[in-house]
Amino acid sequence: MTTPTIELKPSSTPLSGAEREAILANPGFGRHFTDHMVTIRWTEGRGWHDGQLVPYGPLSLDPATNVLHYAQEIFEGLKAYRRPDGTVATFRPEMNARRFQASARRLAMPELPAETFIEACDALVRQDIAWVPAHGGEESLYLRPFMIATEVGLGVKPANEYLFIVIASPAGAYFAGGVKPVSIWLSEDRVRAVPGGMGDAKTGGNYAASLLAQAEAAAEGCDQVAYLDAVEHKWVEELGGMNLYFVYGDKIVTPELTGSLLAGVTRDSLLSVARDLGYESVEDRVSIDQWQADSENGTLTEVFACGTAAVITPVGTVKRAGAQWTQSGGEPGEVTLKLREALLDIQRGTSADKHGWMHQL
Ligand code: COI
Repeated sequence: MTTPTIELKPSSTPLSGAEREAILANPGFGRHFTDHMVTIRWTEGRGWHDGQLVPYGPLSLDPATNVLHYAQEIFEGLKAYRRPDGTVATFRPEMNARRFQASARRLAMPELPAETFIEACDALVRQDIAWVPAHGGEESLYLRPFMIATEVGLGVKPANEYLFIVIASPAGAYFAGGVKPVSIWLSEDRVRAVPGGMGDAKTGGNYAASLLAQAEAAAEGCDQVAYLDAVEHKWVEELGGMNLYFVYGDKIVTPELTGSLLAGVTRDSLLSVARDLGYESVEDRVSIDQWQADSENGTLTEVFACGTAAVITPVGTVKRAGAQWTQSGGEPGEVTLKLREALLDIQRGTSADKHGWMHQL
């Protein structure tokens, strides 16, 4: 695999410092973008080439561009944090780079070398470093690397040209309520992914597949939908865009990776963070009936959602056809909050990085 260098073409119209500060004061999620983006092209026979750091702006695509028809697309999400000394570090970019390669293999796309993935993220953060929010709060700079098939034509086949892009967006809480518990609708008929499908790849199609059930969840008055496995409609898999954890006193359990759910970076990190804090952490199967019964008999003490965007968000209310219950009295649970603080402390650089997860720029 070739590793292109990234050539800088700076923006001549960056936002003013005052405009940027106004955005950073209340960034929301995914609403504002920094001044630049990185683009790298891949062409069959030539490999990766034309790495550029260019002003953020629209793409011009032929209407017959492959991705617009057959969705050959993959993406990632990771965050850059401001440390107490003002420097910046990203969280586990190597793991995102490896997952991006796994997603590329699943969608018959070329694999970007991990060092190029990380260098592209670093180059963008270095250029737009003023966009990394101040240390100490909930805010960070969310990076969105993605790749699309750019061959023009309507034949259904792996494309012979691709475009890799990284954009960045200052991010506050993913859910408007911040750490306020969210409500979950358990979808018992719609599925997100099937065995042998693409559920463990981070591709837009999985998110498109989640939207109808997400809309149904909203119609039920819930914030998020939880999916069950596609065969037995029994085993809990994940939410539309994040993983789930179940807290049984001193033990935390997350659905095991069956191939149809995403191997979240936050999910993986929490297995270790929990052990560091003295909890037992395991990957196992959790059934929908067990979720309800254990909540009702009090052994399931807390439930939370986790992901790069969502960080750790407590689950307050759960609803399924014919039943509804609350987790931890509808309040953020003690274990949930402890894990959240411990993870954020590592990410913000206020506690020791004993696993070597932070990538300092
Ligand atoms: C992330 O947490 O980075 C995700 O990709 C979820 C997203 C779809 C908002």
